[in-house]
Amino acid sequence: MPETTHILAALESDMELDAALRFTTLTAEYLSATRSGDGPVSTPRSNAELAARFDEPMPLDGRPLSEVIARLRDDVLPDCNRLYHPRYVGHQVSAPLPAAIWTESFTAALNQSVAVAEMSPTGTALEHRVVRWLCELVGYGPTSGGTLTSGGTEATLAGLLAARAAALPDAWTNGVGADPPVVVCGEHAHYAVARAVGEMGIGMRNAVVVPSRDWRMDVDALRATLDRLKVEGRGVMAVVATAGSTATGSFDDLEAIGALCEERGLWLHVDGAHGASALLSERHRHRVRGLARARSIAWDPHKMMLLPLSAGVVLVRDERDLEGAFSQRAPYLFHGGEGERVVDQGVRSLLCSRRADVFKLWVSFQRYGARGLGALYDRLCDVTQAMHDRLAAHRSFEVLHAPECNILCFRWIGDGTMTAETLDVFNRQLRERYNRSGAGWITATNLAGRRVLRVTIMNPRTGPAEVDEIIAGIARMAEEDRVRG
Ligand SMILES: Cc1ncc(COP(=O)(O)O)c(C=O)c1O
Repeated sequence: MPETTHILAALESDMELDAALRFTTLTAEYLSATRSGDGPVSTPRSNAELAARFDEPMPLDGRPLSEVIARLRDDVLPDCNRLYHPRYVGHQVSAPLPAAIWTESFTAALNQSVAVAEMSPTGTALEHRVVRWLCELVGYGPTSGGTLTSGGTEATLAGLLAARAAALPDAWTNGVGADPPVVVCGEHAHYAVARAVGEMGIGMRNAVVVPSRDWRMDVDALRATLDRLKVEGRGVMAVVATAGSTATGSFDDLEAIGALCEERGLWLHVDGAHGASALLSERHRHRVRGLARARSIAWDPHKMMLLPLSAGVVLVRDERDLEGAFSQRAPYLFHGGEGERVVDQGVRSLLCSRRADVFKLWVSFQRYGARGLGALYDRLCDVTQAMHDRLAAHRSFEVLHAPECNILCFRWIGDGTMTAETLDVFNRQLRERYNRSGAGWITATNLAGRRVLRVTIMNPRTGPAEVDEIIAGIARMAEEDRVRG
């Protein structure tokens, strides 16, 4: 049994403080190194180059922890995207709250599964508590509830499954049939909605898309769509509105859409994955006015609450709706008598085993407070507004919209003599070259058929000075590209 003795000894020594310090030191060094803004934001290496670096056989025997840490330091870290770098302004992934980062190893060590209360006594209690706080922020009453999810995609699927159960109570047993009710969503809805429609067996031909006006769902067009569906005798399973759209960060008019849905007895699901966190901000809360009219809400703390991946939430106005979505009995797991509220969150979730992401969410509320998180939301939006103002004043750029949160689309137009098609190609290449340079990292999207540059400011360390550097860096590179032809 020498191998067993050896491996058990390795487990014991890896539980010592010294081992923990090796990991936390590496992480702290990374956080500290990004503070100065020196060094590259990302990697110039291709996927193939990186795959080649790790192209090695599975290790049959373990090696000293110091060597493993060295590989993380030398082979993994240098080519990561540094989301903590103040010139990383790419996708909607946060520079995570430090206290939440440190909670991750605690969560893993305890390994509580939040599906079942007996497997996570405090984890389940905390999840119910945090869900209640969020429900109260929305303005939901005591019958509301919800659960943590892996993110907005799962939360939207869960919300729409609840809508399906309400519209087609027999669907669990009999399926949705040949002519199911439709799901209505905005033109700029995240693909999570289409994916849920496909996954639920509704079929994309039963998804009805409402056009946008100024990047928001056009409420008049929604009304006309609902009128038409009624005339055609089509049922509506749900209307999906977006609070903080992926492309432009725009907020649908939830008051108007909610009133329309209530008038017609329709289920409103709000994809607030990005923007529901506006509730934390006194200054931005008005953007989600009417949110409580939704029957279900997707909300991602791993976006504008700056938690590390993953932390999503689905909330429902009536907790029983979510249980209806998963109307399955598992008496060997879930406990609760007839008419009694089941404490086990597994009855409300797509997942069985589920990590206690609530720990880092609860720690973040404890450490930074709802006001602190709201102040961070404001800060990200303020810096985005500053970037908008600087770009609007720059003659080589065009901004495509006023920011409603921390997302902004713009493009380089030079002296205005290039055709729209040439500019599409130019902006695509400009972004690739800029990101490869390591000077900063931005993203891109298609808006109204045109290729545009896009930033999401997800790092409280990004300030007006970094915004100036990013704009100057892109402009300089664009000029070089233009001259080179
Ligand atoms: C509006 C919106 N909804 C849903 C999602 C999907 O969320 P997740 O990646 O957490 O599943 C995103 C992600 O960018 C989003 O922007």
